[in-house]
Amino acid sequence: MSAPFPHLITSAGWSFTRLSQFLSLAQACRTALDSGAPKCWPVLQGKTVVNLFWEPSTRTRSSFELAARYLGAHVLNFEGSSSSVSKGETLFDTVDSLLQMGVDAFVVRHREDGLHQRLVDTFGAKTAVLNAGEGVSDHPTQALLDVLTLTQQVPLEALKDKKLAIVGDIKHSRVAQANLSLLQTVGIDVHCAGPEGLLSEATAQQFNCPVHRDLAPALKDADFVMTLRLQKERQEQGVIESLEQFTERFQLNHTTLERYAPPHVKLLHPGPVNREVELSSALMDDPAISLIREQVRNGLAVRMAALLVLLHPQPYEVTWV
Ligand code: CP
Repeated sequence: MSAPFPHLITSAGWSFTRLSQFLSLAQACRTALDSGAPKCWPVLQGKTVVNLFWEPSTRTRSSFELAARYLGAHVLNFEGSSSSVSKGETLFDTVDSLLQMGVDAFVVRHREDGLHQRLVDTFGAKTAVLNAGEGVSDHPTQALLDVLTLTQQVPLEALKDKKLAIVGDIKHSRVAQANLSLLQTVGIDVHCAGPEGLLSEATAQQFNCPVHRDLAPALKDADFVMTLRLQKERQEQGVIESLEQFTERFQLNHTTLERYAPPHVKLLHPGPVNREVELSSALMDDPAISLIREQVRNGLAVRMAALLVLLHPQPYEVTWV
């Protein structure tokens, strides 16, 4: 089967079949990573991947770089701040210049919503574009790694009978938007909870998900709960009354889970975590409940799969032994 995506810039519009196929590939990557074999599957030898990050990142950027290297590609990490952008060059001229050096894929994080589509419209015939985080609107590889993490607990086909609560700063979170989009394909019952200033009614209506102003109804019967940090870099002043009040009402910790959620509930968080704000340290580090470290490891597998589907002629035929 040939590569199904010319680009990977959105969490919306995935068919169930395509998602299932992609997750199988990502799981194969995860199994290969866990096998203990040398991390060297040179199936993208000769390809060049540029990481173009205009916002900070730890997990996404590192995992895209490692994924490309493990698959044998050349990797260029491009720093906007130390480039000729600081002399007035536009992002599009920067991409065009790098393209002349022979780039097969651009992995781009940027604060501007809609930028990735504009990059595809301009350069998409010459290079693949991967969305590594876009404004407040999308972060598709994060949503894919989150769904992969869910499927390691419950088969994809059975997730439609489960409930997931998303808690915290949903309004300013591209992770929330990305998950709300992709989870439509999965069919899981999604509930949102957070203070009024951090919950967009438009988002709730768009994705037809119940919105709660308290933890209790969101966590009732929840199989999974995903909490999000306060995205201070994107918030207007005064969206929450105080940090203390937010923490008191919406922090996830052992007490809140024991009080409101069933005993089997599992915790997700995309990172970075602000310990003791949206999530207690003890719960974050509780291996019986927290899937956060699994999410990070799955991020590497998902980004290997993403590079394969864009750059390998037969991504689903790759052998891992
Ligand atoms: N979840 C996530 O995107 O983390 P980074 O900002 O560290 O990449």
